[in-house]
Amino acid sequence: MSKIFKKNMTRREFVKTTSTAVAVTAVSSVIPTFAIGGVAPVKVGVLLPFTGTYAKLGSHILDAMKMRIAQNGDKLGGRPVEYNVIDSEMNVPKSTQRVNKLVKKENADFIVGPVHSGIGINMARMLKGENVTVIVPNAGANTITGELCAPNIFRTSFTSWQTAYPAGPVMLKAGLKKVVLLYWNYAFGKETAAAFQESFVPGGGEIVADMPTPFPKTEFQSFFTKVAALNPDAVFTFYSGGGAIKFMKDYAAAGLQGKIPLWGTFLTEGTAKGAGAAAEGIKSTLHYSTELDNPINVKFKADFKKTTGDDADVFAVQGFDAGSLLIQGLDGVKGDAGAKIELHNAMRNAKIESPRGMFTFSKANHPIQDIYLREVQGGLHKVIGVAAKALEDPALGCKA
Ligand code: PHB
Repeated sequence: MSKIFKKNMTRREFVKTTSTAVAVTAVSSVIPTFAIGGVAPVKVGVLLPFTGTYAKLGSHILDAMKMRIAQNGDKLGGRPVEYNVIDSEMNVPKSTQRVNKLVKKENADFIVGPVHSGIGINMARMLKGENVTVIVPNAGANTITGELCAPNIFRTSFTSWQTAYPAGPVMLKAGLKKVVLLYWNYAFGKETAAAFQESFVPGGGEIVADMPTPFPKTEFQSFFTKVAALNPDAVFTFYSGGGAIKFMKDYAAAGLQGKIPLWGTFLTEGTAKGAGAAAEGIKSTLHYSTELDNPINVKFKADFKKTTGDDADVFAVQGFDAGSLLIQGLDGVKGDAGAKIELHNAMRNAKIESPRGMFTFSKANHPIQDIYLREVQGGLHKVIGVAAKALEDPALGCKA
């Protein structure tokens, strides 16, 4: 029996789960219809931040996902779509009740979210193996597609390992051997720091100070004083969203810009323009750049600008790709969101024509993707190399 709820299974799924020995052949579709006729909508529950330091990340993900589905005639597998959107407020304790509301009360077929890894881990624990399909369009904690991996959990974003591990060798090659780590002290920041060390230290690098800072606070002055005193070759970071803009501006104001190179993953993503001159020269490893020269990216950026008035970023890309994954999954089952086994197979086998470049999913349902080396030049992320080609997260602890 389900841990948190019990919805009607399709006959096919019931047969599959009750007796694996029974050969399953054809099964009639169970797409719900209204009494007055017409096809019932596919229910997409959304849990993303629309307030706080990650507010823009949440709105870019949702806007781009909706834009992608609108480009598909606002249909998934031929069915209309109903969105049920909740602001996560980045509140981990409250996320349990919010996830339950979407799944039990609203009967969502899909949950799309979150941005914050703490909520992502909670959500994956709650929904692993449940009769609802989860698409994580950001939260990068390794465990979500590691220990907690499940056939019903997908991710269109990244892991902390995937984004930070490639930075170690790149920085060593650039002659940067003594590094200070500065990051927000919660799951994703800690994993980012660990993944960086995993490649940097065995390669001959030295971590001269490991300085987590409280999330989502933005009082960095005392940490910058320590950085100045230590005078490392570089600083490696994890900050994102509104807080990242403040970080870069304060770093420059502290006189450290240009003296001690700043590196990171998400630091300048969607924030370079806001930080202005303070972002110039910052290098990062990430799975996207607006400057990638492929036709899908060119069209995506123009469409996103037209739809929202905003410049695209990696968060919008991840939302856009969540939309593509929904489209391919539901096309594969002709809109029958209840045919979970077939739906999940179609999603697992999807080829996502992403603005980041085409990607496929690993057996843990996570993107196998290139990680680019970027540098902010004139407010844009110039691609100066590929830090890792077709990088697959090791998905430690995943039994899939
Ligand atoms: C996360 O908490 O997983 C997270 C949040 C913001 C980012 C990246 C990762 O930019």
